[in-house]
Amino acid sequence: MTVTLTVNGTSHRVDVDPATPLLYVLREELGLNGAKYGCGLGQCGACTVQIDGQAAFSCVTPLAALEGRSVRTVEGLGTAEEMSPLQRAFEDEQAAQCGYCIAGMIMRAQALLDVNSTPSEAEIRTHMQPNLCRCGTHMRILRAIRRASGTSA
Ligand code: FES
Repeated sequence: MTVTLTVNGTSHRVDVDPATPLLYVLREELGLNGAKYGCGLGQCGACTVQIDGQAAFSCVTPLAALEGRSVRTVEGLGTAEEMSPLQRAFEDEQAAQCGYCIAGMIMRAQALLDVNSTPSEAEIRTHMQPNLCRCGTHMRILRAIRRASGTSA
């Protein structure tokens, strides 16, 4: 089955088993390695991307569910040379330790900022709850999101 999906503004026709998780399609078919495999069960958030603007676990989203839908990955935000404001804030706050969770953290946070540019700390905490950092940098991640939204304490 061929599925057409849009990733970071570019349309792709992908011909793999429609049950294939989006995460595998991104990494193996499209060469987009920002989203990471953590648990594969929708429990850690390392694989988070946006689907039609909503944060979603790409490890549990089958390709078949994506026909005609729009996916955004961390590669669609900015580059190492030209970071997005949120990526810049993560760097400024040194929010990454091992870095494995960061692409997912950024994509979930961006989904919030896209609909609420000045969230409260409580709103950020609630929104970011599905994503885990095993290094324990959650406070720095929180500061980075507040910095990007201009709501730093
Ligand atoms: Fe998708 Fe953990 S790898 S939620």
